[in-house]
Amino acid sequence: MSDRPTATTSPPLLELEGLTTDFPLRHGRVRAVNDLSFQLYEGEKLGIVGESGSGKSVTLRSILRLVPYPGQTVAGDIRFQGQSLLAKTGREMRKIRGKDIAMIFQDPMTTLNPAFVVGEQIRESLRIHNIVPRSPGIVSHLFDRKRKKRENERVMQAMAEVGIPDPAQNARRYPHQFSGGMQQRALTAIALACEPQLLLADEPTTALDVTIQAQILALLDKINRERGTTIILVTHDLAVVAEFCHNVIVLYAGQLMEKGSIAQIIENPLHPYTHGLLRCLPKIGSRRQKIDPIPGLAPDLSSLQTGCPFAPRCDRVMPACSQTESIPLKTLSDGRLVRCLLF
Ligand SMILES: Nc1ncnc2c1ncn2[C@@H]1O[C@H](COP(=O)(O)OP(=O)(O)OP(=O)(O)O)[C@@H](O)[C@H]1O
Ligand SMILES: [Mg+2]
Repeated sequence: MSDRPTATTSPPLLELEGLTTDFPLRHGRVRAVNDLSFQLYEGEKLGIVGESGSGKSVTLRSILRLVPYPGQTVAGDIRFQGQSLLAKTGREMRKIRGKDIAMIFQDPMTTLNPAFVVGEQIRESLRIHNIVPRSPGIVSHLFDRKRKKRENERVMQAMAEVGIPDPAQNARRYPHQFSGGMQQRALTAIALACEPQLLLADEPTTALDVTIQAQILALLDKINRERGTTIILVTHDLAVVAEFCHNVIVLYAGQLMEKGSIAQIIENPLHPYTHGLLRCLPKIGSRRQKIDPIPGLAPDLSSLQTGCPFAPRCDRVMPACSQTESIPLKTLSDGRLVRCLLF
């Protein structure tokens, strides 16, 4: 477990301000991300946790402007290195995606292209961003054998880096010939090939067994330490976040419920929802075997009532929780943020 203060003297690498993303329905809309603001500093490892449907993936996709149709970011701003990503043209965004900001998508099997061998898919990301420049004097890239050789070396290096054994052999295999863990590594290799400054990792370990999970996390940790890559790790598993991140955001119904350092959130959670998430974790060495699930179901985002969206499931609910129009986000003296009337 490591701690790193969020506020440093340098400006944030990424800043979300009031980000709001909707999916229109025939009658009304689903508000998947609701007025989300946070800052991310260079070298930081930020975790975003929350139950299924809390808006984690839509948040990451909103940053890259890859929200699936008909979803749309309807308010707020996303600034990367001080520049608004929402103001960029499609062409400018394509240059940023993969090169400056890369994403490991949630489902490896649907993200990898089944029709191409894995090595070719890694090489494609190098080619799109012209990472390996053309050889001088060669007019057409089709005849540029030297460039292809250098690219292949980079592909082998990227595969070896993520722990894919025998890269030369495995580069010629199709995704379906890879195990789940190897597919995840291949996706990670594609994301890291262009050495992005910011990596968005959406549940990169969920489908894997604990040993492979630990290996992927160790790999991301190494990339963070050696290259200074800033990482947002999305997961529903607070135990993973506790191992890996400096800071954590707890999302519920698309809203930031609590944000703090790992030590603050794990050792002294404030929001009743964060308490609930922590109670769901099994405790090693504890005699108490029972896991306490949070009662009730995740809210229907198309018909949210006023007040706190967690109120119907909260064990400390007060009448004011549903009577207040919207619960304000408070900054406490220790720097943490919490959206709850108890504080
Ligand atoms: N393609 C879509 N069409 C309509 N609504 C969508 C779509 N994708 C997401 N949503 C809505 O946005 C909400 C947030 O979805 P999101 O995928 O971000 O959840 P998540 O936190 O990543 O969940 P999980 O842990 O299951 O991946 C969902 O509850 C759903 O209501
Ligand atoms: Mg998701």
